[in-house]
Amino acid sequence: MSAAPAFDLDAWSRSRLARIESALAQRVPADAPAGLGEAMAYAVQGGGKRLRPLLVLAAHEAVARGGDRVPALRDGRDVAVPQAAYDEAALRAACAVELIHAYSLVHDDLPCMDDDVLRRGQPTVHVRFGEARAMLAGDGLQALAFELLTQEADALPSQQPSAPAVPDAVQAALCRLLARAAGHAGMVGGQAIDVASVGLPLAEDALRRMHRMKTGALLQASVMMGAACGAADAAAATGLRDYGAAVGLAFQVVDDILDVTADSATLGKTAGKDAAADKPTYVALMGLDRARAHAAELLEQADAALEATGLADTAALHAIARWVIARTR
Ligand code: IPE
Ligand code: IPE
Ligand code: MG
Ligand code: MG
Ligand code: MG
Repeated sequence: MSAAPAFDLDAWSRSRLARIESALAQRVPADAPAGLGEAMAYAVQGGGKRLRPLLVLAAHEAVARGGDRVPALRDGRDVAVPQAAYDEAALRAACAVELIHAYSLVHDDLPCMDDDVLRRGQPTVHVRFGEARAMLAGDGLQALAFELLTQEADALPSQQPSAPAVPDAVQAALCRLLARAAGHAGMVGGQAIDVASVGLPLAEDALRRMHRMKTGALLQASVMMGAACGAADAAAATGLRDYGAAVGLAFQVVDDILDVTADSATLGKTAGKDAAADKPTYVALMGLDRARAHAAELLEQADAALEATGLADTAALHAIARWVIARTR
């Protein structure tokens, strides 16, 4: 049996993270009025793992191939998509999904939700800026995500005048995927179930549904948005979708585990909150050992789904899945 080829995820991530951080810093309007921009920038900066943007870029790289033709929405003809346009679309998608994620954290931490005071090792946005500004910063980040996905090429501060425009059909596909994952059928719907389930012992199927929606949907959308920035045939699209589902659920199972096993300094957020708030979690449902075993099963599902894509270059996606299960923060 041959050993799996070694893949250096740290090295792979380093250059992508630099691109993501710089694009985010350029695109968050720190000068928005009355302190709003300061709160938005605070919510986006400062120690996030940037897993969702990395998933976008890894999926994009797995399917990268320019020259495809997509329908031009304005005049009904097909247009060829140069690789540089797909690369630009993927970077926008990476930023957009992180903006939605940052907004979800700001609102998740509010006193009316999880009432948390620590996030990414800093006071939460509402502790630092007040509840009204935290709510508005979340709202502003959500709108900014879609503005970014649909921006004209020359309106972006980072654009060279010659940068290729992202075809309208690709912009529309990215908006559709992100809106669906962020809204009632995804993150916000899952958060609604979460706040309605405090103190209730959920059965496994109900808990799985909640976790898939509140957390899994956005992670899965990250993978599918990356796939939309390139040429994924039906097998690749299905395999990547299933990979995203497995990794997305695994991520929240591990979040539940870390809430019990890690300390606040390592997590950058208050440990032990789930039990204290009587939240239904995988640890509460099945105990630590079975929750860990379940995360390992989900990793196997993620690996199998990647094999089914038929794609040659999935090493980064495999490595990210392994990291999600083994992570300590
Ligand atoms: C925390 O997400 C919220 C969940 C969905 C569990 P992350 O653990 O990805 O948070 P950051 O972005 O790294 O701070
Ligand atoms: C959050 O789940 C999911 C979101 C949509 C933000 P948690 O409430 O478990 O996330 P943490 O533990 O506060 O990061
Ligand atoms: Mg929560
Ligand atoms: Mg929370
Ligand atoms: Mg949690």
